[in-house]
Amino acid sequence: MTILITAGPTREAIDPVRFISNRSSGKMGYAIAQAASEAGHKVILVSGPTPIDVPDRVDYIPVESTQEMYEAVEHWIGEARIAIFTAAVADYRPAEVHEQKIKKTAETMTMEMVRNPDILGSARNPFGFTGILVGFAAETSDLENNAQAKLERKGCDLVVANDVSRSDIGFDSNENECVLVYPDRQQRLPKGSKQHLGHIIMEHAVELATSGNTDKFS
Ligand code: PMT
Repeated sequence: MTILITAGPTREAIDPVRFISNRSSGKMGYAIAQAASEAGHKVILVSGPTPIDVPDRVDYIPVESTQEMYEAVEHWIGEARIAIFTAAVADYRPAEVHEQKIKKTAETMTMEMVRNPDILGSARNPFGFTGILVGFAAETSDLENNAQAKLERKGCDLVVANDVSRSDIGFDSNENECVLVYPDRQQRLPKGSKQHLGHIIMEHAVELATSGNTDKFS
């Protein structure tokens, strides 16, 4: 099976040397990519900047900005039967990218931001993806309800919800703890290494693709 995975942070340029980003390390997405590759699947890894080594036998598509990630996913998603979106994508970017480094002048500075495209929200329409769509939900409150709303809004088959208000899991830690939110049920995955959870999440996605959803691919 071909599995497309987004991972890592995006970077939104302010000027030639500055950008807006987030604390995503890429560990969660790369763990899923490694698990999928070891299971014999073809993996397309669309990744923002991270120092992590790219897993063996993975087609690696490096990107920086949300717009670049959007275009890469638009280009490759048609190849995939499963798409898993773990990337921490900037919802907004600076309205203007300065050509020169911004000089220190006034005491305060205001920057206008504009909305970025929603990549996961574009998978079904306009990208026309008919495979198994797995989103992540990074939440700081009301985990399950927010994830359920995301699942319905973005046309996902599964949303992996994690609590990013905790420092021992989520962003940049080696461990995570998740709730798998399906349209009709939920399953808690206890705290464990991202490698271990990566295997389980990948297996749940493959299970969806092989049982009862085959009509989606005809
Ligand atoms: O990289 P690590 O340090 O290992 O950390 C892992 C993680 C915490 C980043 C990961 O487990 C996680 O929660 N990823 C989703 C982060 C996020 O942006 O969540 P969100 O709830 O804001 O977005 C919901 C979903 O839409 C996500 O699948 C996201 O990839 C996707 N999205 C969001 C905005 C956007 N413009 N385009 C998107 O595709």
